[in-house]
Amino acid sequence: MEWKPDKQGDIPLYQQIANYIQKRIAYGEYPPGTILPSERSLAKELDVNRGTIISAYDVLYSNGMVERIKGSGTKVNRDMWGLSRTRIPNWDLYVERGSFLPNLPLYQHIQGEVHEKNLINFASGELAHDLMPYDVFRDILTKQDFHQSLGYEHPQGNLDLRDMIVNHLKEFKSIECSSQSILITSGAQQALHLVIQCLLNKGDSIAYEDPSYAHSLPTFRAAGLKTFKLPIGKNGLNPEDILYLYKKHKIKMVFLNPIFQNPTGTVLSLEKRKRVLAITQEFGIPVVEDDPYSLISLNDRINTSTLKSLDKSGTVLYISSLSKLAASGLRIGWIVGPNNVIQRLADAKQQIDFGHSIFPQWVAAEFLKSESFKANLKHLKLELIEKRNILISSLQEELSNHLSFQKPEGGIHLWCRLDNEVNEYKLLEESLKNGVAFVPGSLLGTKTGNIRLTFGRVETHLIQEGVLRLKNALLKLKK
Ligand SMILES: Cc1ncc(COP(=O)(O)O)c(C=O)c1O
Repeated sequence: MEWKPDKQGDIPLYQQIANYIQKRIAYGEYPPGTILPSERSLAKELDVNRGTIISAYDVLYSNGMVERIKGSGTKVNRDMWGLSRTRIPNWDLYVERGSFLPNLPLYQHIQGEVHEKNLINFASGELAHDLMPYDVFRDILTKQDFHQSLGYEHPQGNLDLRDMIVNHLKEFKSIECSSQSILITSGAQQALHLVIQCLLNKGDSIAYEDPSYAHSLPTFRAAGLKTFKLPIGKNGLNPEDILYLYKKHKIKMVFLNPIFQNPTGTVLSLEKRKRVLAITQEFGIPVVEDDPYSLISLNDRINTSTLKSLDKSGTVLYISSLSKLAASGLRIGWIVGPNNVIQRLADAKQQIDFGHSIFPQWVAAEFLKSESFKANLKHLKLELIEKRNILISSLQEELSNHLSFQKPEGGIHLWCRLDNEVNEYKLLEESLKNGVAFVPGSLLGTKTGNIRLTFGRVETHLIQEGVLRLKNALLKLKK
């Protein structure tokens, strides 16, 4: 406990302590049923007499905030909401309300472990710190002059950045658009969220890939959408499934991540991409193309043309970001679409946050402008190739009897199939104990028996050790 009572203050120590604990209870940090520290240990921690703590607990008891259970100490009262003179709201009831759904508890658990402990991290879907261009950003921040307005931004985002994105999309992705058809968002995630909130209604049917990016799933459910899955095989989805779902369920939108799909790493072949466009164009079904990875191809022979670059009819809403090219903490993403759609989304974003902060937008514009962008991309790909190759060879050496995978030719994820005897949840728990984290496949879709190892996230020198820890966890389960 960082807080300490003020021994020089006017309020008696026992009252200060009672007030402090009462506040913690009110803020929900000690929910009903929590056992408070023993009198002895709290006295030691706060450097006061045990009698002071007894008096503080007496105050809480007489307020009805705690109960004393013989043998198990002092507990926050389960009936407190009715008894307390301070009438504390029942926050437990409130946190279950609201239209936003929480992340799955297991996902929260993994994130908590990764943030709190020093684990070897194959779990978080982002770049490792040794891949982020800290020097380039440091240079921008110290050497470039900042001349941007500090007032509220244009609802679609900073014009200078949008112009840079227009050039970037043309040069790197052969996508032709104008600054009016771009909205800057807080990463691709916010773009997806805005699309779901603004362009669809409760009860609408949509199709999405199974497995797919975990954070879009609660967002679909929270919006009350009817969701239909497009199973992902070795070569991505089958376009005819879209046609089938349209005829059977009149799907109103399709969400796809065609190039280096998260989590499978698959690439939809050019022929299939064209077929997706042909089907959706024939029936006027909007496609949301989520494309964070197409620039991090690790094999130059692969055709990575986006659906958007092939779309001549305006069927595709295109989303991308700098998270997987530079830094996820920058929170710069964008969506490209018809002007009326972009204006609708921009209007909603303005209601949410009055537009994106100018500082990351300015840094992002300078980054896209600079010579360093290309050099960084080249370096990033080489480093990712190294990470992927080390991971693959370590897995082949240590775990080839227990799991199989298809080599990803781009992106940052490796999707592994476990042999039948291994339960991915038990493997996760054992692995966390061994100091290594990954994402069980069934958090990302319906199929069991897979795990996602994000090679882009882990520091290169820790990959082999991470695989060894995974192996030890797996062998322990098999004993
Ligand atoms: C397919 C996909 N879409 C969207 C996102 C969100 O990325 P951002 O950091 O740009 O919000 C991710 C991140 O992992 C992703 O893999």
